[in-house]
Amino acid sequence: MTKWLIGTGLSSAIGQALVTELGPTWRSLGLSRHLESSKFSDGWLRADLANPSDSWALELPKTLRERGIVHVSGVVHLAGVVFADQIEATTLDEWHRTLAVDLTAAFRLLQVLKPWLDHASSVVLVSSVDAWMQAREGPAAAYGAAKAGLIGLSRQLAAEWGPAGIRVNVVAPGALSTGMGPYPEVASGIADRTALRRLGAASEVARVMAFLLGEGSSYMTGAVLPVDGGLNLDY
Ligand SMILES: NC(=O)c1ccc[n+]([C@@H]2O[C@H](COP(=O)([O-])OP(=O)(O)OC[C@H]3O[C@@H](n4cnc5c(N)ncnc54)[C@H](OP(=O)(O)O)[C@@H]3O)[C@@H](O)[C@H]2O)c1
Repeated sequence: MTKWLIGTGLSSAIGQALVTELGPTWRSLGLSRHLESSKFSDGWLRADLANPSDSWALELPKTLRERGIVHVSGVVHLAGVVFADQIEATTLDEWHRTLAVDLTAAFRLLQVLKPWLDHASSVVLVSSVDAWMQAREGPAAAYGAAKAGLIGLSRQLAAEWGPAGIRVNVVAPGALSTGMGPYPEVASGIADRTALRRLGAASEVARVMAFLLGEGSSYMTGAVLPVDGGLNLDY
């Protein structure tokens, strides 16, 4: 049986590395704002997760049925935005947008996909070290709150869906050299206080996500795995 991965954020470097890592036994359908079909060879659904009136959650079940997808083996929530500023400078709109993309979209995605999940399904939510630590470079209350919310969501769902055999785990990356990783002017400082003395690569997060999606982690659920080179030892 084809293993289907449904994911947000699959257009990111981590998402593209994940699809490569999973290999030809998996097919993937991505939710994305952009028409970049080269990044979604198996299929995609246009979705602006920041827009509360976007109808992606209604469209997704139709898309799955149209494509004859009867079972989903893997779900990842990798989409993210960050507003890094002091709380006084964070507008309510920035707060809502961050929570919408980083947290609420995961809740909606999993709610919609539940009928396609069974004992052979695994969910991976992508949090961040910012869920429990503030970078010395500056505060990011909305981002930290959203990323911490993903941990609460995953652990509640791991307990709720465990009896059905559905596994739910979290990876919490540290500072990466791609995407929303640190600006060049602060990157070397963060690398210096990372135990492994370097930033991480997208593929290093993707490999852990692929492990959590696969059989190798069949007895893991409710786990929160830092993938941060030891950054959380001295942030
Ligand atoms: N880079 C790091 O250092 C780091 C560290 C810790 C955690 N993370 C986490 O890793 C994940 C990927 O981040 P990245 O660094 O690779 O950043 P990125 O390259 O900016 O990727 C962000 C992803 O989020 C999606 N996205 C953003 N806003 C969206 C919206 N309104 N609707 C739909 N999708 C939206 C984008 O999809 P489309 O453009 O296709 O719509 C894109 O795939 C995020 O959850 C981030 O918090 C990254």
